[in-house]
Amino acid sequence: MYNYTMSILKPLYENHEGNLYFDGVSCIDLAKEYGTPLYVYSEERIRDNYGRLSRALKRMYSKVRVLYAMKANSNLEILRVLREEGCGIDAVSPGEVYLALAAGYKNKEILFTGTSVSIEELNYLLATGVNINVDSGSQLEKILKKKIPDTISVRLNPQLGAGHHEHVITAGPDVKFGVWEDEAVKLISDAKEAGVKNFGLHMHIGSGIMDSGHHVRAGERLLEVAGRIRRSVGVSLSFIDLGGGIGVPYKPEEEEVDLDEYSRKVVGLFKSKIDEYDLGEPELWLEPGRYIVADSGALLTQVTTVKITPVRKFVGVDAGFNTLLRPVLYGAYHHILAASQLDGPSEKVDVYGPLCESGDFFARDREMPQVSEGDLLAMLTAGAYGYSMSSQYNARPRPAEVMVRAGVARVIRRRESFEDLKKGQEP
Ligand code: LLP
Repeated sequence: MYNYTMSILKPLYENHEGNLYFDGVSCIDLAKEYGTPLYVYSEERIRDNYGRLSRALKRMYSKVRVLYAMKANSNLEILRVLREEGCGIDAVSPGEVYLALAAGYKNKEILFTGTSVSIEELNYLLATGVNINVDSGSQLEKILKKKIPDTISVRLNPQLGAGHHEHVITAGPDVKFGVWEDEAVKLISDAKEAGVKNFGLHMHIGSGIMDSGHHVRAGERLLEVAGRIRRSVGVSLSFIDLGGGIGVPYKPEEEEVDLDEYSRKVVGLFKSKIDEYDLGEPELWLEPGRYIVADSGALLTQVTTVKITPVRKFVGVDAGFNTLLRPVLYGAYHHILAASQLDGPSEKVDVYGPLCESGDFFARDREMPQVSEGDLLAMLTAGAYGYSMSSQYNARPRPAEVMVRAGVARVIRRRESFEDLKKGQEP
């Protein structure tokens, strides 16, 4: 018998006589009403993730600001929910800035951190008045030629990176992001000479980090540089941003990050170093994306085909890597539940999608309850980097997104139609 009880499911998922309920709503009903593939999110879980994290940090230091890394999921409704909670925004592109403003965030609640930013993009960012975190010397030069902003932040490459896959490690000698220590100090000094009044220093070392030791070690370097800036440029930073990257469990056997321990170690280091280097009381900023939304979302997908060859059993579903890219791009694990068959006898299968690529798989040799065509599967922990990395590859319209609140579901993004595939191409 397949046993799906595990900590990452609770209390969002329930087993009602073999049928999966998501935040109080039947997944079968959701699929019937809105079709598949379908992303479903729990509003309560999003609020709760933000709240738990921000409380754990603020217990240690009151001047903490959490900026949601909206690249994880930029649905407007999710942005609105987090704005109500008091969150700010980490934006990576002018498009994200545009969406955040549309969701009601004030320009100073948004920090733009981009890389390889064009002059047209800088013009847009300067016109909006968002805070800009510069990623290169030439970016700062271009900004200062155009306008002296009130605030400038600099992204440091602290040379120590971490992450769940090499593609998401964003610090280290061969990494494209940020500037090295000497240049960071010089850029703050240049900005000060040009008349900038407020300063920030930033790092983001990677994504999917379960061990706070990485943030502690890189944070030490960041704070050392903050100390140098204080001593040699005479600037007291308004904020020091430790970036995002806190991981979440994807596999049943993985443990959650202990937020109190994380906060004790990371915020504890921050506090001791701001004293040691005489940095005053800068705000401490953090930019979690995955932590806030990953476990709040699931992808529902229907079994279209069960196919048995002499060597394998294949379960074909209506989602592909156009819908959820992470397994193919990073070999990422997403737990899969047989939503209409939770407790059946299990077997090993390969779960694949409809795309014309042999790599279009969600799982190989995965132990799951036996399913039949027409059954529903739920891919868990799909709220972060799921929809936001989806595409129309193979001319497949993107799925709908639904938000569940207090047992009621509502569409927060409609399913694309064939018409959408033609959008912008009509003569
Ligand atoms: N801040 C910056 C500057 C970032 O580049 C990122 C993520 C974050 C914050 C948020 O990181 P998080 O807290 O979500 O780990 N597509 C990959 C993850 C790419 C992350 C890119 N940058 C995945 O699906 O695992």
